[in-house]
Amino acid sequence: MLPFDERDGWIWLDGRFTPWRDAKLHVLTHALHYGSGVFEGMRMYDGRIFALEAHTRRLVRSAQLLDFAIPWSEAELNEAAIETCLRNGLHNCYIRPIAWRGAEQLSVSALDTRVHVAIAAWPWPKYFDEDRLRRGIRLCWAKYRRPSADAAPTAAKATGLYVICTISKNVAEREGYDDALMLDSTGAIAEATGANIFFVRDGVLFTPPPSSFLDGITRQTIIALARARGIKVVESRIMPADLGAFTECFVVGTAAEVTPVGQIAEHAFQPGRLTFGLIEAYSALVRSRVSAAAEPAPAILAS
Ligand SMILES: Cc1ncc(COP(=O)(O)O)c(C=O)c1O
Repeated sequence: MLPFDERDGWIWLDGRFTPWRDAKLHVLTHALHYGSGVFEGMRMYDGRIFALEAHTRRLVRSAQLLDFAIPWSEAELNEAAIETCLRNGLHNCYIRPIAWRGAEQLSVSALDTRVHVAIAAWPWPKYFDEDRLRRGIRLCWAKYRRPSADAAPTAAKATGLYVICTISKNVAEREGYDDALMLDSTGAIAEATGANIFFVRDGVLFTPPPSSFLDGITRQTIIALARARGIKVVESRIMPADLGAFTECFVVGTAAEVTPVGQIAEHAFQPGRLTFGLIEAYSALVRSRVSAAAEPAPAILAS
């Protein structure tokens, strides 16, 4: 894969379009040392960024949770994201906005740092291996648990919180799995390293309440889509010992979209009608121009 710093195109950096290869930082940037960064992951489908306003709102909120303010309005950030896609000639792509504390101060204290923002976009077809998607991906248990909400700003999409995700995903891939499933601090099932999780039993959808991890925009969208189809959705604590009772399982996220799970450690699942139905519904929704006409619009999409 072409390294990310050796590509061509334009990156929106602090209000200006900068040639891709010149969008660089100093090594003494606060965020690099202390994890003081927040980011988003969005996708553009056929020229429209799905849930753009919801993602931008979360970016601004994530920064507030990390005790800094983004020096651009949500409207300016939305426009910059769209412009970034256009400037790079992209209509179907992944978009990565990021905000971070700069190099003005390098200590745990960061009150004198400036906040910077960048937005990059690039083509990114599927998060998981195409041929695994039909059979379902394979998950192992993660080495680390998600911290509880009183131990970290768990509602923020913060760079520092991904340390345990990267370690867990690396171990999983090294051992031949696609991803790792993380528990919360109480031992209940939380989420995968970059996606939320759902289970199916007797036609009912089950998913853990997002008390210590991101309440993903895709997660909220899937819950709304399921309910609009008359599928019951239950948000409840799910323990590893409960897994045997479920027949289908899938993970959801902007990058992962809706991806069937075929295996979690020793438990096997058979991607079925409910999973494939929601894959189709999600795929139609993200590509629909007038989402409210096709679907009762999930509350998350309302600005
Ligand atoms: C750790 C984690 N959980 C959940 C999600 C899903 O969030 P969303 O659906 O808003 O992309 C993501 C992806 O951003 C993630 O990185």
